[in-house]
Amino acid sequence: MAKIIDGKSIAQQVRGEIRAEVQKLEAEGVRPGLAVVIVGEDSASKVYVRNKIKACAEVGFYSENYELPEDTGEEELLALIEKLNGDPAIHGILVQLPLPRHLDEHKVIAAIHPQKDVDAFHVQNVGKIMLGQYDFLPCTPAGVMKLLEYSGIDPAGKDCVVVGRSNIVGKPQAMLLLHANGTVQICHSRTRDLAQKTAAADILVVAIGKPKFITGDMIREGAVVIDVGMNRDENGKLCGDVDFASCFEKASYITPVPGGVGPMTITMLLKNTLSAAKLSMKQDEK
Ligand code: GUN
Repeated sequence: MAKIIDGKSIAQQVRGEIRAEVQKLEAEGVRPGLAVVIVGEDSASKVYVRNKIKACAEVGFYSENYELPEDTGEEELLALIEKLNGDPAIHGILVQLPLPRHLDEHKVIAAIHPQKDVDAFHVQNVGKIMLGQYDFLPCTPAGVMKLLEYSGIDPAGKDCVVVGRSNIVGKPQAMLLLHANGTVQICHSRTRDLAQKTAAADILVVAIGKPKFITGDMIREGAVVIDVGMNRDENGKLCGDVDFASCFEKASYITPVPGGVGPMTITMLLKNTLSAAKLSMKQDEK
């Protein structure tokens, strides 16, 4: 039977550290500020955004929330980003994805000043992740690395399998595991003999967006199983990409959904916003 990695509790510990740092910065007259922009009515996105704003208040950040209508034009959105780029009270800018279809995601992300890009989605930050010299870590993969660290699991020399190749999770996750000296394989929808590959993993990170896709027979005895998924099952209940019941019996460590990776993603966003505030202070000194 696996040990359950308690993401909520680890997130609280890290948020406590962030709160202490915010107090130090405030003594120097700086309060970290995050602007969150959402376009349209996607209900899941609205919940995520609400949680992000709430988390900001909890650690003492300043935040601004922009809820724009579905038919917002590209020029209007770019003008808002330009204004926020120049606002000294705002250290981090987050545009919630997905955007409505008529808006060009790449163009919008490219407009965010790289030093305010707390999602680490801008090409400049993505490039830095590749090089291992980053100002900002991609939130979800960095959250997974923190969960491993707090659980005493070192990827060095381990066989790590990432299922999913998205720009937000799979690709940067593979890179962070590689930087931590793991031996990394990325699997996806076109992978042959997937179960054979997942069964060879010491550390398995799953981010494919298919409810309960990874079952106990697809993992190795004693594997560490990290579930990035957030889906609804046939009864409308929240569930991950991993079938918890069957994997729990076989794994050595496993993350639950909810209460695993989710709380860490937001925590790493807070950490990046804190880093952005510090970065701006350093520049003011120059
Ligand atoms: N949509 C799903 N995940 C994310 C995320 O981490 N950041 C943003 N901006 N949008 C998302």
